[in-house]
This record gives sequence, C-alpha cells and structure tokens, in this order.
Amino acid sequence: GDNREAEINPSEVVASPFQSFLNDLHLKYQSLRDGKVATYIPELAKANPDLFGICAIALDGRVFEVGDCHQLFTIQSISKVFVYGMVLEDRGRDYVLSKVGVEPTGDAFNAIVLDESSKRPYNPMVNAGAIATTSLIKGAGPTERLNRMLDMFRRYIGHNDIFIDISVFMSERTTGHRNRAMAHLMHHFGMIDEKIDEAIDLYFQQCSLMVNCHDLAVMAATLANNGINPITGEQAVDSSYVKDILSVMYTCGMYNYAGEWAYKVGLPAKSGISGGIIVVVPNQIGIAVFSPLLDERGNSVRGVKVCEELSRHFGLHMF
Ligand code: DON
Repeated sequence: GDNREAEINPSEVVASPFQSFLNDLHLKYQSLRDGKVATYIPELAKANPDLFGICAIALDGRVFEVGDCHQLFTIQSISKVFVYGMVLEDRGRDYVLSKVGVEPTGDAFNAIVLDESSKRPYNPMVNAGAIATTSLIKGAGPTERLNRMLDMFRRYIGHNDIFIDISVFMSERTTGHRNRAMAHLMHHFGMIDEKIDEAIDLYFQQCSLMVNCHDLAVMAATLANNGINPITGEQAVDSSYVKDILSVMYTCGMYNYAGEWAYKVGLPAKSGISGGIIVVVPNQIGIAVFSPLLDERGNSVRGVKVCEELSRHFGLHMF
C-alpha cells in the first residue's frame, strides 16, 4: 500500500451535514463484504478488500472525505472518460464519431462486438471503444503520445507527481490477449491504424495510472465545473466537449448496469475494475468512491450503494 502524502490537511475537511452523512455511509457499508476483487489481471487480485474511501469536492474547493482517500490504486476504466475528451480535442467530434459510436451495448465491458453496419465499436466506455479512442491520441511517437496523455491527466488531477504502476502495466500487457484480439479486429475493419501494439500499450498504460480517491474526486469536480479544475483553475479539457463526455458517461459509464444506474442514481458516472467510481453532479460537486469488492458486472459493490444513497438522500437525480 503506497500512501501518497495527503494534499490536504484532514482538519480542512469541512464539518457539515454532508460530511456527517458520508461518515454514516462509510460506517454502514464498511462491514459489507459482498463482491470479489478483480482477478483477471493477476496484479489486481492482490487488492485489499477492506479498503474503502468516499471523497467529494465542491466547486468552491471544499473537500468532504472519509476512509481510505489517499490510498493509491490504478485508475483502470475510469481513464476512458478523460482520454475520450482528449481525443475529441485532438481530432474533432465528427472524426471521433466516425471511429467510435455512442450507443450503449448492454453487454459486458470486454465484449468482442462491433456495430454490424458501421464496424465501429459501440462506445468509448467499453474496452473495444476505449482502445480505438486511445489509438486516436496525437503525437509523433509512443513517448510523445504517452507524455501528452500524462499532461492531460495532470491537468485534471492538479498536481505533478503522477506515475504508472509498472507491475500492473506488465501484468495487463502479458495477459491482455482479449484486448489485443479486439485491437486486431478493429484494425481489420479500418477503425484503428497499423500501430496496433502501440495503441494497446498506451491503453494499458492509461489503465495503470495511479490515483487515489481524492484525485478522482478532483477529476470528477473538474467535469462538474465545465472542464476547469476547481482547485487549480486550470482548463483540463475544452468546455465544449464536456457535454459529450458526460453524455457517454450517463448512457454507458456503468457498463451493463448503465440503465439501472441512470434510473436509480440519475447522474453521469464511470466505474473501473480496481474499485473506483466517479460521479459528476454538473455545476455542483464531484464525487469518488473507492472499494475493490466488485459485483458481477465489474462495479464496486460499496460504491454503487453509496452513490444510490447519496443521490436519493440529497435529491441529486437529474430528473
Ligand atoms: O481492459 C482491461 O481489461 C482493463 N485494463 C480495464 C478494465 C476496466 O476497468 C473495466 N472495468 N470495469
């Protein structure tokens, strides 16, 4: 367990009804042991099932947090959201849409399925669509593309000491045959170019970015704040693309739970296989939950419960 030194002093956490509600939720669900840690990537199987953090960042910079908010873990699929925004900036909406659709699948995140008529992967939140998205990052070579991607993540996270977990990267790289097969299939259909191995490596690198729950809440708050990091004031993504990002999060962010999530929680969100979930309350707050125990769809069990209760209690559902 690497613990990055806290960026904020715990005494700055604001005492409020919202904070006490988070404390109560944390207490209530800490003892819930349902679900399993992900095992299909050998390095992820080592995750500690007891870890559990909830963090929320308001657009005025107030921080609410409880539990393991400074424990580092790999961002996994949550990265897909931010890379999608970057590629929209790099290539423009029309070009990206010609290579990656925006239709939910109802299938598992790793389904080997492309749209029958257009041959596009269905959306940028499933693995196939995320790999195609990553392949569109601009740069003269692999190093420049990686560095541009890390710079993008830095703008969202708001500090400079970010890095990639090499063990998880190597673990994915040596076992990710299914992702590799999908990349080749998409190349066959002209959805990704000939630099297949480079795209796959970059995709595994983005999944292996280390973040903590507090970082994720800042990233969510940046999306809630029209692309401007509320802590640093830096523009992380062009504001005109935030609605594209939030729309696909809303319809596709929770995989084959997306429909029920939209119905119950009613907010754009994205989960990852290491146990993180980000939730965006537009113009209000960014929320992140971290707990590695997953349900059969790959969403954090405690994370889903916490978000359902938060949405219901504070009336956060968009409709
Ligand atoms: O593509 C993979 O297998 C992982 N690197 C990312 C998967 C992920 O987080 C899907 N999530 N639920």
